[in-house]
Amino acid sequence: MSGAASDIGVAVVGAGGWGKNHVRNFAALGALRTICDQSEAVRARHAEAYPETTVTAELGRVLEDPAIQAAVVATDAPSHFEVARALLEAGKDVLVEKPLALRGADAERLVALAEERGRVLSVGHLLLFHPVVERLKAIIDAGELGEVLYLVCRRLNLGVVRHEENAWWSLAPHDLSIATYLLGADPTHVAATGGTFLQTDAGIEDVCFATVRYPAGRLAHVHVSWLDPHKTRMTTVVGSKKMAVFDDTSPDQKLRIYDKGAEPLPEAISYEQGVRVRTGDIVVPAVRMAEPLRRECEAFLESVRTRQPSRADGRSGLAVVRALEAGAKSLAEGGREVAVG
Ligand SMILES: NC(=O)c1ccc[n+]([C@@H]2O[C@H](COP(=O)([O-])OP(=O)(O)OC[C@H]3O[C@@H](n4cnc5c(N)ncnc54)[C@H](O)[C@@H]3O)[C@@H](O)[C@H]2O)c1
Repeated sequence: MSGAASDIGVAVVGAGGWGKNHVRNFAALGALRTICDQSEAVRARHAEAYPETTVTAELGRVLEDPAIQAAVVATDAPSHFEVARALLEAGKDVLVEKPLALRGADAERLVALAEERGRVLSVGHLLLFHPVVERLKAIIDAGELGEVLYLVCRRLNLGVVRHEENAWWSLAPHDLSIATYLLGADPTHVAATGGTFLQTDAGIEDVCFATVRYPAGRLAHVHVSWLDPHKTRMTTVVGSKKMAVFDDTSPDQKLRIYDKGAEPLPEAISYEQGVRVRTGDIVVPAVRMAEPLRRECEAFLESVRTRQPSRADGRSGLAVVRALEAGAKSLAEGGREVAVG
């Protein structure tokens, strides 16, 4: 199950539903050394699948093992901060699953701690390593779409219903990280409304509609839900010259570029003639696919080797947590627009 041995020893802390994918990837990269999980059932599964790997319930064994230089934190979101802090304090480089923390102040402490100790801190903003997002970023940066005016991000499905965090904290990190990466700027304001239908006593929102403001009047609309009949993973980018759609559920047209636009006519003689609408070709760029998580794991190992931050570094994780926190405040205050901390 393991690939050629890597020079870096990695522990995966939290090897459940998602963490098992980190286990698989770091094993394939020859870097997996230890799997740490509190659940006996999870440990038993991994002990059978990875007989050469240490499997433990004790975080202390990870902290004390000098052969482990780096660790992944894929525990449930409320424990990200404490587990990541312990690992950084023990001198490990750390990749924390999204969200980096559930409070901006905690995310800030992790970033500061990593900087003080000279440790790598990365965050599991998986989609920044998606080949289509990379291509879209190159297209935007080359000016092909013109000025980016706004984005619409939709991440919907039926389930997975979480009990520790709401749909905003669970799903929106992906969209906020994509929008922030594509726009090349941190969000400034968030206004969010949501609905609580399944876990009303706990007040956990199942659906959320947010308007996220960026500098220079740019906007992202983020709609996330785990209570929707249709699996949707879609990002629309509207530019002044062209428009693009990233549809991650499409098997063969994940990226479409629309030569469509509209421009005001300064010398219009009537209201109807005031805007010229243009409709041209739709192009589907050929993008060579690769597993985004594999690329995220490779980028983390590269950061550990070179000591250079990846595009999903702690600071990008912090910007997303701050926007999440502003959105949570707005949700609690009936949709009032909240400045990002
Ligand atoms: N990047 C992505 O696309 C993506 C997708 C799914 C989940 N996630 C993130 O991954 C994280 C885990 O989600 P999941 O769905 O795998 O949850 P999960 O509940 O299936 O797994 C969490 C595991 O962590 C273990 N655990 C909890 N606290 C621990 C501790 N202190 N020490 C050791 N083990 C501990 C639990 O026993 C469990 O096996 C969450 O933060 C989630 O947001 C990311």
